[in-house]
Amino acid sequence: MASSLPSLFLFLSLLCLAFFSPSLAEIRFAKIRNDNRPFIPLDLFGFTHSGGLQLNVSKISLSDTKLDLSQVGFFLCTLDSWLRVLQQLEDREVSCVLKSDLVESVYTFNSLNTDDSFNMEYVQKAADQYNLVFANCHYQQLKISMDVRSAMYNLDGKKGDRDYLSAGSSVLPRVYFLFSMVYFTLAGLWIYILYKKRSTAFRIHFFMLAVVILKALNLLCEAEDKSHIKRTGSAHGWDVLFYIFSFFKGISLFTLIVLIGTGWSFLKPYLQDKEKKVLIIVIPLQVVANFAQVVIDESGPYGQDWFTWKQIFLLVDVVCCCAVLFPIVWSIKNLREAARTDGKAAVNLMKLTLFRHYYIVVICYIYFTRVVVYALQTITSYKYSWASVVCAELATLSFYVFTGYKFKPEAHNPYFVIDDEEEEAAAEALKLEDEFEL
Ligand SMILES: *[C@@H]1O[C@H](CO)[C@@H](O)[C@H](O)[C@H]1NC(C)=O
Repeated sequence: MASSLPSLFLFLSLLCLAFFSPSLAEIRFAKIRNDNRPFIPLDLFGFTHSGGLQLNVSKISLSDTKLDLSQVGFFLCTLDSWLRVLQQLEDREVSCVLKSDLVESVYTFNSLNTDDSFNMEYVQKAADQYNLVFANCHYQQLKISMDVRSAMYNLDGKKGDRDYLSAGSSVLPRVYFLFSMVYFTLAGLWIYILYKKRSTAFRIHFFMLAVVILKALNLLCEAEDKSHIKRTGSAHGWDVLFYIFSFFKGISLFTLIVLIGTGWSFLKPYLQDKEKKVLIIVIPLQVVANFAQVVIDESGPYGQDWFTWKQIFLLVDVVCCCAVLFPIVWSIKNLREAARTDGKAAVNLMKLTLFRHYYIVVICYIYFTRVVVYALQTITSYKYSWASVVCAELATLSFYVFTGYKFKPEAHNPYFVIDDEEEEAAAEALKLEDEFEL
């Protein structure tokens, strides 16, 4: 029974990992110092039929070298077989996970000669998603220190180049690039509309342009970053630029949702105190969310505190999403009251409908990109992990297009500030409708 608790813990952490990030890959470095954990998970990767693993381990020091070191080493295992290995350990069918025929033992420390390091290549021809784990079956007596560099990759069919992106993620650079081109096109279109309708363009419309351009730049950097990882295995292509644009994109998008929600610049030129408070809450939270995202991405799935930061990120994100809904709700309430009390009922009703639609669309956008996408990541096989990215980006794109279309600058947009003549015309129309119904 001694081994079942730690293995249950490992299983849970593997499971969480499968939920939160189905595809990660990069060359990973792990410094392990005086560690007596029975299992140390290192990385997760989806192999195609021509996969490989390169392990470079150095500075190995064992607290006790007289033990049977064939029970200490690295192995690869799928989540499915891990479940069955757990059962085997529980039933005492095997004494050590490295002796089970359900895992692929990659290297055991009895092959270690006198020096304190080893390098090896392991060929993986069975396509599946594997965890790379270090096992120490003498964890009660043995403490281990070492530096581990692990690189998992697939060989590109035609040229035989190494592709360090997990199967299912290797098309992501192209997906991001394509979407960034779509956003650049949208930005061009928006500039054209702003130029054509410059007499009716408000400050908010220029802000919308900035948001679209930031989104396009962010996707472009993400494409470049991912394709750098794909080729070299390390993330130091454009990742700093990517984080910078992510940061500004996140802040500007949430600010835009709040500003549109309040009707700033097209319904009224100022923000009320409570609306400003929402911005004061959302902007610092976005700073925290972006910082958490950087830590999550850079530390890898089994890095220290990875899970904590993931939780912080989710929490902050949920708070931001809820906060941005308040200004829209307040606007709807104000418009509803205005429609009841003052004479401009018709126009106010139209604005009310628009804000109701906007409210529903914001909720759908948040729900889809936060809940549905996580669900998709969980249920789709690692081979199709790109599909959830495409769904999230399509949802985001629809949201941008809807917002741009509904709030575009237009001379006769009934939702925007209206002069008295039009007000009267709208009231007439409503009166006629009323009479007609009677
Ligand atoms: C890792 O090991 C491989 C051989 O398995 C070797 O070719 C490569 O140079 C090593 N890399 C490092 C960084 O030591």
